[in-house]
Amino acid sequence: MKQNRREILRTAAMATIASSALSSVAKSQSAEKFDSIPRVKLTSLPTSLNKMANLTTLMGGPDIYIKRDDVMELAHGGNKTRKLEFALAEALMSGAKAVVTQGGLQSNHVRQTVSGAAKVGLEVHVILSNPVPEMEAELKGSGNYLMDQIMGAHIHLAGAEGRGPVVEKVLADLTAAGKKPYNIPAGASNAIGSMGYVNAGRELIEQWKEQGISPSHIFTATGSCGTAAGLLMGLRYFGNKTTKVVAMSVSASADRLKPRIRQILNEASDMLGVSHDFVKDDDIHVEDGYYGKAYGYPTDAGIAALRMVGEAEGILLDPVYTSKGMSGVIDMLRKDKLVNPRDLVFLHTGGAPAIHPYANYFKA
Ligand SMILES: Cc1ncc(COP(=O)(O)O)c(C=O)c1O
Repeated sequence: MKQNRREILRTAAMATIASSALSSVAKSQSAEKFDSIPRVKLTSLPTSLNKMANLTTLMGGPDIYIKRDDVMELAHGGNKTRKLEFALAEALMSGAKAVVTQGGLQSNHVRQTVSGAAKVGLEVHVILSNPVPEMEAELKGSGNYLMDQIMGAHIHLAGAEGRGPVVEKVLADLTAAGKKPYNIPAGASNAIGSMGYVNAGRELIEQWKEQGISPSHIFTATGSCGTAAGLLMGLRYFGNKTTKVVAMSVSASADRLKPRIRQILNEASDMLGVSHDFVKDDDIHVEDGYYGKAYGYPTDAGIAALRMVGEAEGILLDPVYTSKGMSGVIDMLRKDKLVNPRDLVFLHTGGAPAIHPYANYFKA
């Protein structure tokens, strides 16, 4: 019965895979190339772009905008939804009946993958590890982990051996069962996933034009780097040559993240048919002063930033990613560290479901 239902959903999703290259609207070569990459619609786009007037006033300017990628139609939304529009299209076209991915116990990427897979009729297996051992009970008690369970994920827990061997075993078992599993790397941070943020880059250029703004910087919380790499590629590929994409690290030094961003940019360049130096190394900006102890450990400044945006704007950031990113933006503004800041944009990449397991950080 379940198999039948999934088959019906897969067939329906396959029928909606869009490749708009054949549209009669005149397009640049770049747009045509990009639009020929198959994509399955998982949410309504564009997401909104709004000025945070109260935060702007509190900071004493410049204007600060927020791009609401936290508001999307896969369970609770977030940045992975855009990546999955491309990754799941590829999965469906490969004939997969199951999808496999991995992350931390509270991974937002995993929750969105589980939601997207349910929607398009793919069985979903997730391999989870615990980045914060002292919070095992909390991380398994609510938030994303609970949502994964509710949406029918097959959960495989990885211990000291790490996720890699478990992923290999699950892939082998699903292959043996004839399910042709499609593997999505952590964070969907590969070339195909990054296309979701190439798309966001194009969308932002359009919105900036409509709103008559010309941002000097856009900030994005960065872990596995596909969002920052895709966004940078998308802005440059669709004609914006000036807005600085600032990757706000949530977990590692700039020395570690820059090569990763470079690698995804190179793979994305191959996919889009541009040379590897289309985006230059000196166009990659990583800010690594705000991630604190490690991935999954909130910082005091991040929690303060989360509260500040909540109280000023009624918008919830998350404790693991966007709060750290926003704490950096606030600090750099206060210390006057940004060169000629104008119409700053903060990309809200989602993650608020993780507020629940981290509730202790918000108790007086
Ligand atoms: C809420 C949120 N923000 C930012 C990121 C970082 O995105 P990326 O892994 O593409 O760097 C993630 C990734 O899991 C996330 O869940």
